[in-house]
Parts: sequence; structure tokens; C-alpha cells
Amino acid sequence: MIRLSLAALLLGSALPAMAQPASQPSVPRSAGTPYAARTLPDRIMLTPAADPSRGMAVSFRTDIAQSASEAQIAISVDGPTLEEKATTVTGPAGVAKDSANGPALYHQIRFTDLTPDTVYAYRLKGSAGWSEWLQFRTAATQAKPFRFLYLGDIQNGILTYASRVIRQAFHANGGIELVLHAGDLAAQRDDLDHDDEWGEFNQAGGYNWSIVPQLPATGNHEYIDVTLPNGQESRTLGPYFPLQFALPDNGAPGVGTTYFVDYQGVRFIVMDGTSAIDLGTMAQQTRWLDQTLASSKATWNVVLFHQPVFTCARPDDTPEIKAAWQPVFESRKVDLVLQGHDHCYSRLTSEAGRAASAEARADGAVQGPVYLVSVTGSKMYGLNDRARTQPDKTAEATELYQIVDVAGDRLTFRTYTASGKLYDGFNLHKRADGNHLTDTTEPTIAQRTCTGNVGPDGGKCVARAK
Ligand SMILES: [Fe+2]
Repeated sequence: MIRLSLAALLLGSALPAMAQPASQPSVPRSAGTPYAARTLPDRIMLTPAADPSRGMAVSFRTDIAQSASEAQIAISVDGPTLEEKATTVTGPAGVAKDSANGPALYHQIRFTDLTPDTVYAYRLKGSAGWSEWLQFRTAATQAKPFRFLYLGDIQNGILTYASRVIRQAFHANGGIELVLHAGDLAAQRDDLDHDDEWGEFNQAGGYNWSIVPQLPATGNHEYIDVTLPNGQESRTLGPYFPLQFALPDNGAPGVGTTYFVDYQGVRFIVMDGTSAIDLGTMAQQTRWLDQTLASSKATWNVVLFHQPVFTCARPDDTPEIKAAWQPVFESRKVDLVLQGHDHCYSRLTSEAGRAASAEARADGAVQGPVYLVSVTGSKMYGLNDRARTQPDKTAEATELYQIVDVAGDRLTFRTYTASGKLYDGFNLHKRADGNHLTDTTEPTIAQRTCTGNVGPDGGKCVARAK
């Protein structure tokens, strides 16, 4: 067991991890096997098909006694008789994955030929029997008002700190129909137990991940470092992301982590910045982005990826992505660009800065793409110098979630802090000449930044310079 050998290494003995004294160097992993696969399915993750009015997919984990991938699905009824009309759907045999939590099998099942705008219930087979019935609703085929949740990096303090943000978002905002993750769902670095991290990710979101379709983008932390046969350092997608998310297969050629989903009047396009920058797929992703925007019949086009065009923490913007994608966002009139990576908050409406942007708005100028950066988990970066004048609104050392409501030609964007306070908000109105942005008139709390070593909550500043 890796867990035991790491402990032995640290202690210079064969003491089990549980016996490690508190004074030992802290290795962030849990004692025992807290996330061992069980006799009932867990890590249940719902993802949309490219056409979520007709299809959904589910990924889940079982113990190794349950090799067959089996689900039952039925149009939901209101009495406890779902079994009567349920259809059995199977997937390929489970994929084995060993970890410090022991062996497990990962399953993926795709539900097809569903009826639009309809509530379904499904359940999954484990070695001891079925999971509970879990419900989702297929999308309508036409534009119809809906709400989605956008989350920045969950990555650090996944269970300790990010979980409350996710739960607050769902608790305070009914009717969330999609969840967008801007990458770095887990940190996956060498000093962490990756299986524990994914166990925490699933515990943090709980059943919400199983009943609301998830749209994840990959961050740099979804990739792990590898040494190529020629000795060169490179990156490869870690094993958990493809096991956890059964994504639509309609992305850029050869880049399985890119895809798009049309949902009730919005086209969501998910890009992979790490693959573009480090693995040589920039050209095909840019081409595909342009084509996917050109073919969109949606009222709204939202693009989701990790490394931001305009950074709020780093010395420089992301040059490769800025050069290749920003012109496409502008020429194809993308409405929202949702990003993560910088562990701060930024809403940017003009590269020329917030004063120029406000002046243009006052003159009735049309709004181009709105660029957002946000963070959910506990790692925080300090704002860079540009962030003080370029974005309309920023935050430091603050965990956040974003609720977006789309209804016809109106889009309402609201940013809330971990405890549910309104921090930022704007409305987009799509008119014949283009988008018009207005700031929310609802009261928002004061700007949150560190002052010297003092954080916005009065304690220490936890945002470190990047
Ligand atoms: Fe990150």
C-alpha cells in the first residue's frame, strides 16, 4: 500500500499511518482507507450528452465484485413504483483502478433516446444491490429559461473549505440545472493522495453531482507530469478525470477534453488550455472553436476553460491563449468567458480598463465578451497590479460561487461569497445591435482585498503573491 510505505518512509519504521504523531511533517492524506469502494455505487457523476434533451451519461464506482455496468432508468412517476416501467441499460465492463483506498471498478453508462423536458429517475447496480433512485430532467429542445452554477478551482481544501461553498450555492439557489467547473477540480500533486482528493470532491458535491449535469473543463492539475521515452518532461491527463466524466465526443479533433453542449438557448463550449499550451493542440482547438461558434444557433455562447486570457494574479496574461482565442471570442461575439487558475476574482469588461469601460457604457456602447475568473477552494493568490484598474470588480482571499440565469434575451450574472453574500452582479440584454451591460442595482458587500498582512475578514491575509 502506498499509504503505508509513505508513512514508513517518513517515520523510518513500519508504523501504520494512523500512528503517525502530530509532530511529524504533515503529509496531507487521510488515515486508513476513508474512501474505499463499497458494496453500493458511489462517486456518481451525471454529465450531459451533446444534445441533453435526448441524452445523459453517468459515471460511478463500485467494489470489484460488481464487474457489470448496469443501470435502470424510467420516466419519473410520483408514487414508489419506479421499478415497474424501468428499462435496464448496460455499459462496458467496469475499468479497474487501484489506489491507497484499495481496488475499485469505474463504470460509465450512456442514456440515449430520452424524451426532452422530462424528469427521469435512474439507479445503479452495486454488488449488494441498487443505489437509491436519482432524478434528472432532460433539457427542452428550444430556448427556455434556466439557471446554471459556475465554479472556479475547487482544488484545495476540497472537503474542508470548498464543500461549504458548493452546498451554500445549492441551498440558497433552487433550480440549478447545470454546473460548470473551470478546471483544477483536484490538486493531484505528488504530496497528495489523489484517490482521497477525488473522494473529497465527490463528498463535497454529494448527490448534487448525480442529479445535475456537470460540465467540467480540465485545468493544469488534471494533468500529471510524465517523462517521455526520450527523457523529455511532458504532461498527460491523469486517470481520474476520464473515469469520472463521460463527456460528449464532439470536440476538437484529437482533444477529448474539449466538447460543446447546447442547452435551452445557450451553447457551452469547453476548451482545454493545458493541452493547447503544453501538448501542441492550440491550432486544432482554435479552428474548432471558430467553427463551433460559427455554427451556433444559440442566443448565447459561453466558453469555459482554465487558464485566463486576462489574469488577476500573475505578472502576465496567458500569452498563447490571448493571441489565439481572444480574437475569436471578439469576432464571433462570445457572451461570457468563464475561467479559473488565478485563485482570485475578476470581472473584466474591457481590456482598456474599468474607467474606459464605464465611459463606453455610459455612451451606449455594445458590450463585448465578459471575462470572469473565480475560485471555490482555499488556495488564494494576491491581485496583480493591473487588477487594481483593469477589471470592473476583483476580490482577494475570498471563496465564491456564481449563479447565472438565462431567460430569452436577458442574462443575469451574480457572484456570491462562501457564506452567501452578494459580491458582484451584472445583467446582459441582447438587443439588435449587440449586448448591453448594466451593473446590478442590488446591494453588494464591500470590496474584499488584503491590506498589508491583514485579510478582508480581519485576520491574516491568506492570498500569496503569484
Ligand atoms: Fe488552480
